[in-house]
Amino acid sequence: QRRFRAWRWTWRLLNFSVLGGMAWVGYGIYDDRHPEPQVAPDPSKKTLVILGTGWGSVSLLKKLDTENYNVIVISPRNYFLFTPLLPSCTTGLIEHRSIMEPIRTILRSKKASVKYYEAEASAIDPDRKVVRVFDNSDVRGAVVETEVPYDMLVIGVGAENATFGIPGVRENSCFLKEINDAQLIRKRIMDCVETAAFKDQSPEEVDRLLHMVVVGGGPTGVEFAGELQDFFEEDIKKLIPEISDRFRVTLIEALPNVLPSFSKQLIEYTESTFKEEKIDIRTKTMVKRVTDKAVEAEITGPDGKKEKLVFPYGLLVWATGNAVRPVVQDLMARIPAQKDSRRGLAVNEYLVVQGARDIWAVGDCAVAGYAPTAQVAGQEGNFLARLFNNMAKTEALEENIRELSGSLNLKPGNAAEISRQIEDQERQLRRIKDVKPFHYSHQGSLAYIGSEKAVADVSWFNGNFATGGSLTFLFWRSAYLSMCFSTRNRLLVINDWMKSKLFGRDVSRE
Ligand code: FAD
Ligand code: NAI
Repeated sequence: QRRFRAWRWTWRLLNFSVLGGMAWVGYGIYDDRHPEPQVAPDPSKKTLVILGTGWGSVSLLKKLDTENYNVIVISPRNYFLFTPLLPSCTTGLIEHRSIMEPIRTILRSKKASVKYYEAEASAIDPDRKVVRVFDNSDVRGAVVETEVPYDMLVIGVGAENATFGIPGVRENSCFLKEINDAQLIRKRIMDCVETAAFKDQSPEEVDRLLHMVVVGGGPTGVEFAGELQDFFEEDIKKLIPEISDRFRVTLIEALPNVLPSFSKQLIEYTESTFKEEKIDIRTKTMVKRVTDKAVEAEITGPDGKKEKLVFPYGLLVWATGNAVRPVVQDLMARIPAQKDSRRGLAVNEYLVVQGARDIWAVGDCAVAGYAPTAQVAGQEGNFLARLFNNMAKTEALEENIRELSGSLNLKPGNAAEISRQIEDQERQLRRIKDVKPFHYSHQGSLAYIGSEKAVADVSWFNGNFATGGSLTFLFWRSAYLSMCFSTRNRLLVINDWMKSKLFGRDVSRE
């Protein structure tokens, strides 16, 4: 009897939590669809210009009290992209729109309205405090280029793909940074497969077309190689069995191992899992040249001898890390204090661009001593939001104190009360002004390695703990699901995962 009662209560509690959760999600959706009217910008406030709509800039926007500034966002991309799930879009496991969140939706949820210009910043003049912008979209009006003045500027333009000037890379490779990169790869994979299955194709040509080469054994290259092999094993092999023994994935890495930023144990685990998945890892192999059909590389043998290798390919994905964007290079050239910085804008512990006034930088374009990751960019954006909110509060408090001090002489009868108010405001001011410098808190690194396995280097209670396998894969999925930008994104991603599991990936080429 007692056990039955306990079960009944557990069941009720479970129902109650599920219903509560659903009501909470429902209210969130309703709230997003019916936002309050927005406050119009106040022209007397400072103009804060934010470049970019990536991890750094959007994290700043999310937490910024926009009523304190005239905020203007400038970016050629009118959406936020959840990059951790981008490799899954290359095979159609996840549809690309599921990991995009329109910037207009994000801005509409702010209390005070924010201006957005879909444009690219081409130059920043720190002396005149203006940003030169141009509209690089397909539809252009009479005005294509103009200037936007700022009082405060945040640069969050990210980075571009590094090619190290290796001949043929730009012309022949696919990259994996933006949504259109993932779409192009998805199309290219199926194009290679269908062309390989074409009537009378020679065996050498079939081998070339079905050879997928990935250059760069960092997390991008590893995750993509894993997703690609899954796609082949779970879908292509079943649908087009006649070519199944010819499909090959090769991962080329210049260093002695892949995933150099992960712990040794996870590197070994990843390499052995790739071996099981039949992904060929070529370490100590440096790509020197790329043509439209082959990758030419140099391998260093155990005796230090170098040997030339040629890898014919159907698809080549280039994932060798980040390079500085031209607009950032141009700004660095204008600031003498930046002359020794190579990898981006050197910033101080408050993320202020060194040698510049009223300019801050976040994310992959800033050099603050941390890895170029979404985690770092997100925390930097949050930090700047706190800093700017505090700065606005400080200014308001200082103004109050000035007014109260002025009224002390005018209202001598209220002097005691006014002095108490001044003291109170000064105390608040001291507390607010005491902003600690930016400190990055590393939560860990996660990477998907194929066959429903993932690796994780997690920081927990000041200790590190490394794990890999199927349970880590579930952890990886739930961690990234919880980090998705919105409830809409989360529901779409869950739907895509279920759809692919039930019906397989969609292999239509367009
Ligand atoms: P981005 O997010 O790249 O945003 C830059 C923004 O600036 C974009 O909106 C762009 O359109 C805009 N922009 C570009 N040029 C201009 C211009 N001239 N003027 C105005 N705007 C401009 N990190 C992790 O921590 N975990 C992961 O799992 C992870 N997975 C990843 C998977 C892939 C495939 C990739 C490519 C990266 C991954 N990263 C991950 C790294 C992470 O995505 C980046 O570190 C992060 O996006 C950097 O944020 P950001 O704001 O600096 O730049
Ligand atoms: P990366 O810089 O981490 O790795 C690039 C790799 O390419 C390096 O290992 C390098 O040795 C190799 N390489 C360079 N030139 C080469 C050549 N000519 N031939 C062969 N190999 C060559 O770049 P990646 O993977 O694009 O990542 C960029 C940033 O984004 C990193 O900070 C990474 O941590 C982050 N990221 C994180 C993810 C995660 O946490 N799951 C996923 C993807 C990216």
